[in-house]
Amino acid sequence: MSLLNSNPTKAKAWKKLEHHFQEMNSFSIQQSFKEDPNRKDNFSIDFNDLHLDYSKNRISKETIDLLVELAEELHLKDAIEKYFSGDQINVTEGRAVLHTALRSNSEDPVLVDGKDIKPLVKKALRKTRIFSNKVISGEWKGYSGKKITDIVNIGIGGSDLGPDMIVEALQYYKNHLNTHFVSNIDGDHVSEILKKLDPETTLFVIVSKTFTTQETITNANTIKNWFLKSASQFDIAKHFVAVSTNLEAVDAFGIDSKNVFPMWNWVGGRFSLWSAVGLSISLSVGFDHYKSLLDGAEKMDIHFRETRFDKNIPVVLALLSIWYNNFYNAESEAILPYTQYLTKLAPYLQQAIMESNGKSVDRDGEVINYQTGTIVWGSTGTNMQHAFMQLVHQGTKLIPADFIGYQQSLYGLSDHHKKLMANYFAQMDALAFGKSKEEVHLELKFSGNTDQISTLMPFKVFEGNRPSNAILFNKLTPESLGELVSMYEHKIFVQGVLWNIFSYDQFGVELGKELAKKLLNKA
Ligand code: F6P
Repeated sequence: MSLLNSNPTKAKAWKKLEHHFQEMNSFSIQQSFKEDPNRKDNFSIDFNDLHLDYSKNRISKETIDLLVELAEELHLKDAIEKYFSGDQINVTEGRAVLHTALRSNSEDPVLVDGKDIKPLVKKALRKTRIFSNKVISGEWKGYSGKKITDIVNIGIGGSDLGPDMIVEALQYYKNHLNTHFVSNIDGDHVSEILKKLDPETTLFVIVSKTFTTQETITNANTIKNWFLKSASQFDIAKHFVAVSTNLEAVDAFGIDSKNVFPMWNWVGGRFSLWSAVGLSISLSVGFDHYKSLLDGAEKMDIHFRETRFDKNIPVVLALLSIWYNNFYNAESEAILPYTQYLTKLAPYLQQAIMESNGKSVDRDGEVINYQTGTIVWGSTGTNMQHAFMQLVHQGTKLIPADFIGYQQSLYGLSDHHKKLMANYFAQMDALAFGKSKEEVHLELKFSGNTDQISTLMPFKVFEGNRPSNAILFNKLTPESLGELVSMYEHKIFVQGVLWNIFSYDQFGVELGKELAKKLLNKA
């Protein structure tokens, strides 16, 4: 059974939100804190080791109530059940969307075409565990009998961004294996990586759901040719493994069928790091940490599936994003993690969010007349404070921002961490509360710049009232990282449901690929 097909702007709650938006015109975040000393608690949600503080938004209790009403009117609860239970909600490709089944520890079956997929998932995880253990322990040897020292993930898009982001994020938990990622068709990318490698001790993981992606197949062939300069065809079995649904193409490439890890068409590329696409993660941090990542994601899945909407973290984040996107006409959102480990989170989320919800046709095939997918971008704090934050604080655009922080650092350099977190909280305060004329006046007066007060005043005032969410975890662990990624996955889902679009196809990436092929054939 399919999802409700209904234009959100025609919903009763949407009309009420339009009216409410007019009333909120003069809303001041600063004023709302003065009026309600409990505002922070009233607009916070705690779940597991995660604290979400969304009090610094242009919202009142009524805003949340109306947004929740919208979600209810548009049958979000029913959509969530369909998503988790394997209905074909990816209608345009005739597929279920079941990345959640990849991390489910429950014994409840999930049926695809009448067959329980849970045993397949278990079997694939077992294969990942056994293989990772062999490579990490050195039991798996290269063609000359040496242990593997380097892993190269060859893939692009969802077959690269997720594993690359997680491996970078979990560096602290890493073992002795060096992990590399080759993605770009730009030959200089693969050349730079090959320069660092010894064919005798390198394991190549070719990740491609379709095994037809131009970039991946070109890079894989270049690498195979490089490998065959020092090894023979028979040695490929010890150095190349694949993750794919296209077994024929993998076989034609020359990979031993024992070395193929499964993928399924009910897992979208950009949601696939929980499948064997995450093999390079498991190799790099060990299977136990990889499993904790999956367990963290599952915790968030359960929270999302079972919690009422106004206490449901992914739902609240999605509703806030709709509030700004569709009522304030905010065009973009910033993702700002205060940890160097998450430098690759923004590019990862760009694919997840923008490839999913960058759609302009509704579930009826009609062109829509309201805004959908937000543009997401970002970088890590505190570096970005010295880069683009000027525009977020004083530019003409409204840019809601997610500040992701951790109460504890991993190496325990407390002086650094105190400063990092002071900046984390200070940025959100500056955005919300700004700096008034009176404050600027006093500041200039006390710094002895009395004669410049009137000239400098307009430039030094911060209007404030700029929204942000504080997403605060205890510590960056595989489990909390799983929760974070799963949280954003469900936010994407909720937004797609309410915008009445199909979030799980990506036809928009095809035309460019076709034209590039035509140009190549002409050349
Ligand atoms: O071009 C977009 C895309 O289809 C993504 O959705 C996908 O993650 C990526 O290409 C890679 O696809 P594959 O895993 O089939 O090589």
